[in-house]
Amino acid sequence: MLHKFLLLSCLFFLGFRGAQAQNNLPRLVKTGASTQLLVDGKPYFVLGGELGNSTASSTAYMQPVWPRLRAQHLNTVIAPVYWELLEPQEGRFDFTLIDDLLRDARKNQMKLVLLWFGAWKNSVSCYAPAWVKTDRKCFLRVQDDQGVPQEIMTPFDPRNLDADRKAFVQLMQHLKATDGQEHTVITVQAENEIGMLPTARSYDEKANAAFKQQVPAALLTYLQREKKNLKPEFAAIWQRQGAKTKGTWEEVFGKSLATDEIFMAWFFATYTNAITAAGKAVYPLPMYVNAALNRPNVAPGKYPSAGPLPHVMDVWLAGAPDIDLLAPDFYNPNFEHWCDLYTRGNNPLFIPEIRFEDGVDAKAFFAFGHYNCLSFSPFAIEGSDTLKSPPIGKAYELLSQVTFLLGKYQPAGQVRGFLLQKDSAARVFTLGDYRFTARHEFALGWSMGSKKAEWSPGGGLIIAVAPDEFYVVGTGLVLTAEPNAKGKRAGYLSVDEGHFENEKWLPGRRMNGDQDHQGRHVRVAGGEYSIQHVKLYAY
Ligand code: DGJ
Repeated sequence: MLHKFLLLSCLFFLGFRGAQAQNNLPRLVKTGASTQLLVDGKPYFVLGGELGNSTASSTAYMQPVWPRLRAQHLNTVIAPVYWELLEPQEGRFDFTLIDDLLRDARKNQMKLVLLWFGAWKNSVSCYAPAWVKTDRKCFLRVQDDQGVPQEIMTPFDPRNLDADRKAFVQLMQHLKATDGQEHTVITVQAENEIGMLPTARSYDEKANAAFKQQVPAALLTYLQREKKNLKPEFAAIWQRQGAKTKGTWEEVFGKSLATDEIFMAWFFATYTNAITAAGKAVYPLPMYVNAALNRPNVAPGKYPSAGPLPHVMDVWLAGAPDIDLLAPDFYNPNFEHWCDLYTRGNNPLFIPEIRFEDGVDAKAFFAFGHYNCLSFSPFAIEGSDTLKSPPIGKAYELLSQVTFLLGKYQPAGQVRGFLLQKDSAARVFTLGDYRFTARHEFALGWSMGSKKAEWSPGGGLIIAVAPDEFYVVGTGLVLTAEPNAKGKRAGYLSVDEGHFENEKWLPGRRMNGDQDHQGRHVRVAGGEYSIQHVKLYAY
């Protein structure tokens, strides 16, 4: 009897643990003004770095990389999983590299975001296994408008989808089996920078047949339901044709390269959604897709088109409801412009890649403070460039101390962020009982740096923990404050520099006299990094 009771108790406990782990899976939740990524039940912010494409293909090569990533205060590594190495022979799966990644990430107290380098990587099917690449009869390719086959698997061939999906499901099943309790892997990217080249659509036989068909009802239903929320540039194309609710692609959207791109976007989106849905069915981690941002005045097909780009975002939202996030890869200028485009319609900002260059540290503060960003991740984080550019590690060292405050105060809209460049005007915003003005610290003219022709961007974020109490985090900034109340002036009760240990504030210097300009501003010199605890009063 006792044995039976003990056995039942163990089974119940294991079952509960399994369900509890299932319940505590990494997931996205909408909380007030923001969407948060919860990992083991707590808001998580990816202070990340994406590995160069080939780095994770060798466990040995990764060994000296881990300590460098730890030294940069990363909490997350974004790493590829390669279809060609996962399934070298059809139906035979090798999880060695993934198991090594899981082991080493855990050993280094880091989380992982995995990239599924499956059918497409930077538009091309270069990571498809040899048995797919060499069988062009079974696995159809995209063709250009001259009928020339490309090294791109066409999304119109169900055999391509079946092979890609089977491998992805195997990956997700393995993650559930080996990481379903620990949740080392927190999100998965499906494919990489899907984008149509060298023409705006494929001209393979299946694509041509689909192009003559009616626009799928699912897309038309979405357009009608979301009519008021469509991105303006996309809505204009549909409305120019009379906002038709049925017809072929060219009847509904007109005869143009833009229509070719919308057509391809639908089939890329529905293909990738099928992969994502199948993967989530076995292990429902948050999943996203990323896009190579297009440059202005370049025609679809001359840039990798039809991926999850802002101007076809509605097509992706309609065709891929199981994909949680549409993410930008930042290699273009105009960081703020693209962040604004990607956060339309409350699409959370998740940056899986950003060029490692001057100012990447300031952009990190800005992204987390202004856009409630979920992930910030310079590309090729392990590369030699990291030694040349401003230390992202300093930014992450400070951000890792205040993410608990971001998680607590973002839902109530009590966080602001700002990016400060030589040519940018002062940033003015209201927070708590005060109106703040943020300027680049070099604007004071006090620093040697202010004489330079080029200024490294400054940036920061500010968290209101009370209407008159704030934490300011950043680099190269000067902040002044005025009470919202008319006729009042702001005074500085105290400004303390310091740091958090286990969420406990440990003040350092009292920043008075010259350090807060005799009670007139909060300042962090260009090239320096600090957290300052500020208490204001109005008189
Ligand atoms: C964006 C891609 O997603 C990465 O895999 C890599 O190819 C970089 N571009 C290189 O800049």
